[in-house]
Amino acid sequence: MKIIILGAPGAGKGTQARIISEKFGIPNISTGDIFRANIKNGTQLGMEAKKYMDQGLLVPDELTVKILLDRVGQEDCKNGYILDGFPRNIPQAQVLDKALEERKEKLDYAINVDVPDENIIKRMSGRRACTGCGATYHIEHIPPKAEGICDTCGQELVLRDDDKPKTVKNRLDVYHEQTQPLIEFYEAKGILNTVDGTKDMKDVSAAIAAILQ
Ligand code: AP5
Ligand code: ZN
Repeated sequence: MKIIILGAPGAGKGTQARIISEKFGIPNISTGDIFRANIKNGTQLGMEAKKYMDQGLLVPDELTVKILLDRVGQEDCKNGYILDGFPRNIPQAQVLDKALEERKEKLDYAINVDVPDENIIKRMSGRRACTGCGATYHIEHIPPKAEGICDTCGQELVLRDDDKPKTVKNRLDVYHEQTQPLIEFYEAKGILNTVDGTKDMKDVSAAIAAILQ
């Protein structure tokens, strides 16, 4: 099963993608996580990506597309995967389509997690990300058992560099301009399903699970 998960920054894509990945035993591929891992390891790619991420801009397609196509070509993606954060614009979606077509494959579902802008800023300022395994928490809605410490790996939880209000505002603008048109793109292909992302995390998961049955 090949799934993409769409939604504004902070809509809960990463949270839900991790749940789906575990439930269906398919890899969760997040371009954002790949970039953050590269930043943490100080790679050339990480240094380049950081310039854009810190401003809330998209990393150029030349850098993003190759990484993603290499990743979905790997052995563990044979039985499917979930893409979180890719595609991010129409050209990325077209490149993905073409690559899948060449492999005689296709996407099965595009899940759109719908959350209005008003809710986003609140979510972002409360988000804490694990520096070890990348898991995300929310200080009010999804708190860790011990403050500031990841339940899964015990590493420190931090506010992401791009979660400052000014950067969040830019990310939302970029989302509306470049990413939102993908909703129509996948609707036209007949694979779009929208869920109400303002609901409780468990209710959102249940709504997605019902679609994927
Ligand atoms: P990326 O990492 O993809 O960030 P994003 O799309 O902005 O999404 P987020 O990770 O911020 O949010 P999310 O929707 O995953 O929400 P989460 O589950 O954490 O990308 C970062 C940057 O990398 C981009 O800005 C860009 O520069 C670059 N990039 C990445 N991919 C790219 C691409 N393809 N092309 C070009 N550039 C690219 O949830 C948010 C918070 O809410 C958390 O605290 C969570 O605990 C909480 N929460 C989740 N669900 C609920 C709920 N139902 N109720 C209450 N709280 C909830
Ligand atoms: Zn962790």
